[in-house]
Amino acid sequence: MKDIDPRTLSADDWDELHFPRPEENDFDRVVEAAISRRGFLGGVLAFGSGAAAMGAGLLGSTSAQAAEASRFAFTPIPAQTDGTVHVPEGYSWKILMRWGDPLFSDADGYDVTEGGPVKSSDRIFGENTDGMETFSFRGHQLIAINHEYPNRKINLPAAQEGTPASADDVLKLQNLQGVTVMEITEGLDGWTVVKDSPFNRRIHHNTPMKIVGPAAGHDLLKTEADPTGTSSLGTMNNCGSGKTPWGTYLTCEENFNGYFGSSDENASYDQKVADGMKRYGLKAESWNGYELFDPRFDTSKNPNEPHRTGWIVEIDPTKPDSTPIKHSGLGRFKHENAEVVLAPDSRVVVYMGDDERGEYLYRFVSNDPFVPGNPTEGLLNDGTLYVAKFNDDQTGEWLALTPETTGMEAADIAIFTRMAASAVGGTTMDRPEWVATNPVSAEAYCCLTNNKNRGVKPNAGGDDTSANGPNPRNENRYGQIVRWRPADEDHAADGFDWDLYVTAGNPTVHQDDRAGSPNVNEGNLFNSPDGMAIDSTGLVWIQTDGNDDNEGDFAGNGNNQMLAGDPVTGEIARFMTGPNGCEVTGLAWSADKRTAFVGIQHPGSNWPDGGTPRSAIITIKRDDNGQIG
Ligand code: FEO
Ligand code: CA
Ligand code: CA
Ligand code: CA
Repeated sequence: MKDIDPRTLSADDWDELHFPRPEENDFDRVVEAAISRRGFLGGVLAFGSGAAAMGAGLLGSTSAQAAEASRFAFTPIPAQTDGTVHVPEGYSWKILMRWGDPLFSDADGYDVTEGGPVKSSDRIFGENTDGMETFSFRGHQLIAINHEYPNRKINLPAAQEGTPASADDVLKLQNLQGVTVMEITEGLDGWTVVKDSPFNRRIHHNTPMKIVGPAAGHDLLKTEADPTGTSSLGTMNNCGSGKTPWGTYLTCEENFNGYFGSSDENASYDQKVADGMKRYGLKAESWNGYELFDPRFDTSKNPNEPHRTGWIVEIDPTKPDSTPIKHSGLGRFKHENAEVVLAPDSRVVVYMGDDERGEYLYRFVSNDPFVPGNPTEGLLNDGTLYVAKFNDDQTGEWLALTPETTGMEAADIAIFTRMAASAVGGTTMDRPEWVATNPVSAEAYCCLTNNKNRGVKPNAGGDDTSANGPNPRNENRYGQIVRWRPADEDHAADGFDWDLYVTAGNPTVHQDDRAGSPNVNEGNLFNSPDGMAIDSTGLVWIQTDGNDDNEGDFAGNGNNQMLAGDPVTGEIARFMTGPNGCEVTGLAWSADKRTAFVGIQHPGSNWPDGGTPRSAIITIKRDDNGQIG
């Protein structure tokens, strides 16, 4: 890895390269702990026994339910390794929007291959689509979509290895990321984007934002440009999404650390700032070179600027002039998505993963209930953050992050949430990606995508990451999906029961715990579950972002894909495969549930046009126009 220019790496690879290495004695300690842990758990988690813990999808289900016939309305498809999208017989897919397609007429003709002009770069559909949500408003169908990160070599064809060579290069990259809101409509030829709709909007790295909640106005959020600490510019590395009961969009800032660098390698920082930089993985060199031309991203000049990212941002898709709101009450970490569900008493519950090896799963519970028509801003700030603690006996509890439990001030808990979670002893997880709740049953699922560091080294806070209940395998390359059912069917309750819905693996290659749980078989092989949504009928849709070389440990997996899971029987069937090199991420449905919108991020082949690879949103429909969600 030493010879690689960090600016050519993906955000995740950059992180891996730069991630603080533990001291040798920490390493020894963790390995020792992992070995003794294996001995303790061996009897419980050996493959074939303890099925619920290992993941057979049987939490609370009966054998009669498990014997029910398949409820999938499609014939599962085989794994694929080619350069296009596949769906089952009786279904069809179509491109809705590719990066570079104009949202407005004044951006017609934007040329992705030549690298279009800066002035149009915030008037087109952005790059690398990720989370998305659909909205119906006064007869208009709207869709809000994240653009997670840019392929720099593609976007800056004239720049050396994708490294920005000018302020314009930086501005262009900044414009191609963030969020798109757009109006869509369905005609005889399927769905199209309404060009020049007044709802069409690009939100990027320079869009003004308002910061609210416990960290707003804190000294750690103040900068020279914003001495109030309440208004910042831009949202970045927008990964997963969420939707509130009041009809707004939530976009989640994930690997924000990679956007910051320092022009002074020897810059010194206040201890608190330095501790935060270490825990959140900030380094002297960014992965996109912003700091070379935009001093806002130079931490030696603006040490507090990173504290103004890593949040969940609320956007009203129905008001194109509205200012997006950063909700500090939801904590600051590498946010994956925000799954919002109402408790029986209408308090707002938000489940959130921190996608980093050995970091945590979180929950927020509002103080007040959601009442239609009442103000909503406080519902994502006035409340309590919790970190999940999973016990090995398949019970668990949410540990409150308060000044009393953590010894930290409320604003510090919001800004340095990871440290607060460490202080109370949350359970270190195998990279929590999307959380989804089941609308027909009080349960939630979280994709734990993989974790090669499990049992190998501690997290950046020094927390033990030896194998534990929901993260049972060391050097976990395949991932698993944990599921929990809250006490009293109340997502605001502090107790829950859990199991592993599925433990991904490869039974054609391995006979040990790497074979995966019994609901993994030769016909549905996949690895690295990531995106997830549960449809209105309760089917669990799983999207993958994993190894697609189709060899060795991953033989038979094929390209990244989307599968459907039966929550009762645990049965999982492959529904869609993406073009090679891509990640499948982002899933939403039309209001009539007859169309699924699916995102294809970073295709590696020349999909979809045979030229420059372009991320895109596709629509999937049944040929008989039946419902699919
Ligand atoms: Fe942006 Fe963790 O995926
Ligand atoms: Ca993801
Ligand atoms: Ca991922
Ligand atoms: Ca991604």
